[in-house]
Amino acid sequence: MNVGIDKINFFVPPYYVDMTDLAIARDVDPNKFLIGIGQEQMAVCPKSQDIVTFAANAAKQILTPEDLAAIEMVIVGTETSIDESKASAVVLHRLLGVQPFARSFEIKEACYGATAGLQLAKSHVLTHPNSKVLVIASDIAKYGLHSGGEPTQGAGAVAMLISRDPRILVLEDQNAMLTQDIYDFWRPIGHPHPTVNGPLSNATYIESFQKVWHYYQEKYQRSLADFDALAFHIPYTKMGKKALLSILESETESEQEKILKAYEESIIYSRKVGNLYTGSLYLGLISLLENATSLAAGNRIGLFSYGSGAVSEFFSGILVEGYDAFLQKEAHQQLLANRQKLSIAEYEAMFEDQLDINQSNTFEDDLPFSLVSVEETIRTYKQ
Ligand code: CAA
Repeated sequence: MNVGIDKINFFVPPYYVDMTDLAIARDVDPNKFLIGIGQEQMAVCPKSQDIVTFAANAAKQILTPEDLAAIEMVIVGTETSIDESKASAVVLHRLLGVQPFARSFEIKEACYGATAGLQLAKSHVLTHPNSKVLVIASDIAKYGLHSGGEPTQGAGAVAMLISRDPRILVLEDQNAMLTQDIYDFWRPIGHPHPTVNGPLSNATYIESFQKVWHYYQEKYQRSLADFDALAFHIPYTKMGKKALLSILESETESEQEKILKAYEESIIYSRKVGNLYTGSLYLGLISLLENATSLAAGNRIGLFSYGSGAVSEFFSGILVEGYDAFLQKEAHQQLLANRQKLSIAEYEAMFEDQLDINQSNTFEDDLPFSLVSVEETIRTYKQ
């Protein structure tokens, strides 16, 4: 039985910062951010939006009443959860109107969480073929004003519906996983922003990719020629490219060209959004599917997932006949184009205007799903 991604959609908040403006404000050559880091714009969100509102806005648009009746699990992968105990998936389950006899929970392992959710979803559908599973990656990437990680921030969610006979991507059974206990990026409980060892995180990302890629090749006797494109976790667009270049040297010129062209197609959305943490790989996949000029049904796509700490996985999927009819290209382009650009002063004010859940808060926001209030630490959402 084929199981995989039947529907996929992303949502990003309606504000962004231009990276040239940020570079000028930080007294840095803009080309460091535009070329060295590879980012043009960075998504920013106000305190009336959180991982639940991103997730609900991403999922609602793709779910039909039939889907809501068939979903047996709601899984949220996040590293910026809103509660130490209660899973955001439980709130989402209600906001979206999923049938009650379902499991709803969160998975945490930095940017890898949603990939674990995807694999679990696949296993569930294999044993319960009539069921569907909603997997959502939702995060707010914030490192701090004037911090080294500031140009690699972002925010947003990707929602994926996993089912049998999927209409977009069949997930294959071949995968290579790797766990290494390191401190490259972590966020101790109670800390608003992560602690990051930038050089170590870059090096571990590349090394992890090389390890899982070589292990996958050996284990399944596959080579780059068996792939039509690779999609990467994209903390910033230069990162995936560095990892990719590290394995391309020994490949033929035509293989290199094909895979590099696909990489450029996979980073179009991330360049305008920044890091979505758990969602970044899947935003890259959407960008690839919606912007590629030479992909076709039957093509194999390799996916590299990396979560600091660190867990990584290389896995693959096969494009389904007619997959492009189920993408949301126009809506995504509109979502990105309709965002409001913030001045650096507005961005800094929004960044510092943190939600204090111990205070009474009320909000007004135009989004279909947003926070209405926070009273006695309980969040109420507009539906
Ligand atoms: N023109 C063009 N390029 C320029 C330039 C200019 N004027 N000035 C500098 N550059 C280049 C540099 O040469 C460098 O390129 P290479 O990496 O190819 O050598 C690039 O711009 C970045 O410069 P620096 O290394 O000096 O940048 P930095 O020290 O300010 O920090 C960073 C970069 C480490 C990524 C930092 O932004 C950071 O810590 N980010 C958060 C951590 C992160 O994203 N890590 C990625 C792997 S971990 C992961 O993937 C999980 C996750 O999501 C967090």
